[in-house]
Amino acid sequence: MKENKPIAGFSKFSKSDKVAWLTEQLSLDAKTSDFLADFETKNHSVQAIIAELSENHLSNFHFPFSVAPNFLVNGRYRVFPLVTEESSVVAALGKAAGFWAKRGGFRAEILGTEKKGQLHFLWAGNPKKLTDNIDDLAQKLRADAAPITKKMEQRGGGIRSIELFYLPDILPDYYQIDVAFDTCDAMGANFINSCLEQFGRSLNDWLSTKDDWREEERQAEIVMAILSNYVPDSRVRVWVECPVEELLEHDAPEDARRFAGKFVRAVHVSRNDVSRAVTHNKGIFNGIDALAIATGNDFRAIEAGGHAFAARNGQYSGLSEAVIHDGLFRFSMELSLAVGVVGGVTALHPMARLAMQILENPSAKELMQYLAVAGLASNWSAVRALVTTGIQQGHMKMHLSNILNSLQATDEQKAAARLYFENKEVSFSDVEQYLKYGAGS
Ligand code: MEV
Repeated sequence: MKENKPIAGFSKFSKSDKVAWLTEQLSLDAKTSDFLADFETKNHSVQAIIAELSENHLSNFHFPFSVAPNFLVNGRYRVFPLVTEESSVVAALGKAAGFWAKRGGFRAEILGTEKKGQLHFLWAGNPKKLTDNIDDLAQKLRADAAPITKKMEQRGGGIRSIELFYLPDILPDYYQIDVAFDTCDAMGANFINSCLEQFGRSLNDWLSTKDDWREEERQAEIVMAILSNYVPDSRVRVWVECPVEELLEHDAPEDARRFAGKFVRAVHVSRNDVSRAVTHNKGIFNGIDALAIATGNDFRAIEAGGHAFAARNGQYSGLSEAVIHDGLFRFSMELSLAVGVVGGVTALHPMARLAMQILENPSAKELMQYLAVAGLASNWSAVRALVTTGIQQGHMKMHLSNILNSLQATDEQKAAARLYFENKEVSFSDVEQYLKYGAGS
């Protein structure tokens, strides 16, 4: 950085001035501007949409948009659109989809779709005065929010419940108004936050009318009004099952039984050890995030809520479960998540819109099911590899492609290198040496 001081008004600069400032401050290559321009689409209307998704936009950052076919979910085949930079994820999902399609496919069911948000406030009065009057307050909150909730109610959603909690262990005089919402096919973040902010204003209006209450009781101090990404009541269950003997394609039944036992053991470890649980769940979110990003959903919200759900019993644990019962192997998962299929990036981003078409325009409930399926599928492939060949075999094939590309190998060199490294460990330096000096280097 040439000047060690903050830059004022950067967001107001034109794009070329932003790039010029960056190039000069960080002594970047003079061609940086052309380089950035190369990553933009020539389709101006699409480029304008992408640019307006974020502030201080300089260019686009490409990730592969892939698909994995053969996902049999509740009896219907689906193709999953996936966006991920981790090369083994799509292959893992494709393999799991094909494997389970031959064994009845994935089953999924919705266990709830309720989302929550809270108005956090401080109020210095006798808690009983608030708890005794909560019905009256709730009525006022609902009435004042009616202009916001009207359209959502017409679609079948709206505010489902309003509860008051007095929580002095968190802060003195601290309360929450905890609100449950149904936002139908929308993610509903703006809807929920607008309702909650209105609740803050309405709470103080309501308190100000309490003429017989003490002066300090006639107002509350609003701490914040915000939805919660913890959505334990927006939940989906997904599972696959088959006779243990059918778990391996060409092997003897005792091999299949041994494999099933190892798989169950590995999942059991993830449910009881936090170090393993985090990595296990990371493998689950490899699939979920790839589908969430492709469909324009907020994968950070899904991750945050999912990890909190994994710790709902007081210990962070693996999200999936595997059991063998009466000769049947069952692999399942319950996951909390909230998604939208209307509005937001899903409606705006042309690739997200295409992803929704590839999924045959699912409802929010169906998309919840597909996300959970993607999670279980990627978890299946990861754990299967871990308890059999190890993870590196599959990873390294993909890793080799990335290394070859980063070393700008020709197609001929790539083909030769793939053959050469087929049964060898792959490392960046080994591949580099091989390209320079050939086999035996
Ligand atoms: C790598 O992205 C994900 C895995 O580590 C997941 C797991 O260990 O279960 C393979």
